[in-house]
Amino acid sequence: RSSERVMAGIVAYVGRKQAGPIILEGLRRLEYRGYDAAGLAVGTAKALHVREVDGRLRNLRTAVRLDPVRGTCGIGHTSWSSRRSGAAGPESAAPGGVALALCGKATNIEALRTQVAGRAEARAESADSEVLARLVADICTDGVPLEDAVRQLSRKVEGSCSFATVSRDEPGKVVAARHGLPVLIGLGQNEYFMASDYPAILHRTRDVIHLEDRDIAVLTKSGVRVTDADGLPVFRPVHHERWDPLMAEKSGYEHFMAKEIFEQPRAIRETALGRLDAVTGSVVLDELGVTPRELRGISHLNVIGCGSSWHAALTAKAMIEHLARVHVEIEYGSEFRYSDPLIDENVLTLVLSQSGETADMLSSQLLAHERGSKTIAITNSVNSTLAETARGAIYTNAGPELAALSTKSFTAQLTALYLFAMYLGQVRGHLSPEASARCARDLLELPSLVESALELTGLCKRLAHQVSHASKFLFLGRGVQYPIALEGARKMQELAETRAEGCAAGEMRHGPEALIDDDMFVVMIATVDDSHPNSRLRFEKTLVQIRDVAARHGRVICIANRDDERLREHASEVILVPSARELLQPAVVLVPLQLLAYHVAVLRGVDIDQPRDIGKSVVAD
Ligand code: G6P
Repeated sequence: RSSERVMAGIVAYVGRKQAGPIILEGLRRLEYRGYDAAGLAVGTAKALHVREVDGRLRNLRTAVRLDPVRGTCGIGHTSWSSRRSGAAGPESAAPGGVALALCGKATNIEALRTQVAGRAEARAESADSEVLARLVADICTDGVPLEDAVRQLSRKVEGSCSFATVSRDEPGKVVAARHGLPVLIGLGQNEYFMASDYPAILHRTRDVIHLEDRDIAVLTKSGVRVTDADGLPVFRPVHHERWDPLMAEKSGYEHFMAKEIFEQPRAIRETALGRLDAVTGSVVLDELGVTPRELRGISHLNVIGCGSSWHAALTAKAMIEHLARVHVEIEYGSEFRYSDPLIDENVLTLVLSQSGETADMLSSQLLAHERGSKTIAITNSVNSTLAETARGAIYTNAGPELAALSTKSFTAQLTALYLFAMYLGQVRGHLSPEASARCARDLLELPSLVESALELTGLCKRLAHQVSHASKFLFLGRGVQYPIALEGARKMQELAETRAEGCAAGEMRHGPEALIDDDMFVVMIATVDDSHPNSRLRFEKTLVQIRDVAARHGRVICIANRDDERLREHASEVILVPSARELLQPAVVLVPLQLLAYHVAVLRGVDIDQPRDIGKSVVAD
């Protein structure tokens, strides 16, 4: 197992209905977060029924079918198993009659394990959640109520996590704690839900309370009570979520990933909505948290991300430097946090993260703050830790992204970054009203260009048949297409589990060229925008390179926006995409790359929405 991927999910229910099916359904909707073990604990006044399995949720469903659980109150989890020796029996999963579902990681778990010395849970094989459950049970044996025991546990735990507990001795009650990772409480009619993310509860209720850090919530069928770390009652407002529950359904698509690829035009539209004046091109970013005066004072920008978000950060460099003429440094979250950065209050830091919970990003954000740099979160998750800690935010309104791999959230990030680059250019006086109006027109046209690119799905599917047996891929792009080459390669790697490398096209000669042979497909991005400086030159260079690859018997798949004979001469396939302006063309080029990786993965029989060992974000160190 990968000890890094520990986010997974929790669902809890209390009300009048049978809890088992509701919890199983909720867990199914959290599958996108990745997991390799699952379990639930459902209680009546007489007993606590616990089922724990290794592997997929279907194993849990089977376990429940063979040995049904009864009760109207319970908790469930999907997780990356921290138990080291197969599935546990019900006794060890609910020590002392307490069951605990854990999301995230208690970083001091080994120290906590020593506190249960002499118990079965002290063994190295037992799951982290079992250690925590035992600690709660031990506190409860002294007559302490479950709620207080959970509060005491919350004080002992270090790291980012959240948990939910039920106890045999206090039937009909769920106690949930937020300790760094989000906890949502859903309010129904005489029934209440708790979950670590929206998709688990949105189909049941859209009235949601967000716990604040260190809050404890007690759920019974008559209501929800929230207290802070000191046990004092606190008021937390009820939000009516505007996310449409249907967005968390597959709606006829075979996989979430396919659905989300096709939702990209909408993700772009929604991200631009209300932020861009179509006529004047002026941009409004309400939640930015940084004044125009402050933006005029910055010396340069720092943009940080991990995984695909880092690729988006790379495109941000091109956008911001071109539209706002401000220097941009790009950093990996996993590097920045351990560095000794040359930043101060004159440097603005953009922190990019779909989930807003990636551990390296949170640590990087703290380091930026320590050095005096303000951070702006660009995230798809409004209540995420990253957004809450930042000075301001630009939310990507992509809607819930349930496939493990990012698609529409990436395109929405590109949109948000383009808006930010425009805004910065405007407040710093670099972008003229005419240029602003043109940029606005270009961005507003983008959804329909992406829509046309989606029509390439048939071609990509056919192409996938030709390439699905290839053992290696090289993705090449120049300028603003270089990050897209990286993103295309990453999708192929993660999904199709095949060797795929992305590279700045000009760097091909410095190494990757040696790998080219007739077993390699080279995906070359060869788009051109005559109105952009150097784009024509880059295109000409790319043509030469295609010839070089062909000379080495590599098979070239070309993504182009112009039907040029010189491309057809050496490429085995030319995928023609609609033309967009240079800085927005990446979002269009990306579509066939996503579709190709998707169809190759389908042919290879990969679990598309939860590929092996891929988590939606990495929340532990
Ligand atoms: C994981 C996922 C990637 C994602 C990265 C960053 O590695 O597998 O797809 O890009 O985390 O996630 P974030 O939520 O911070 O954008």
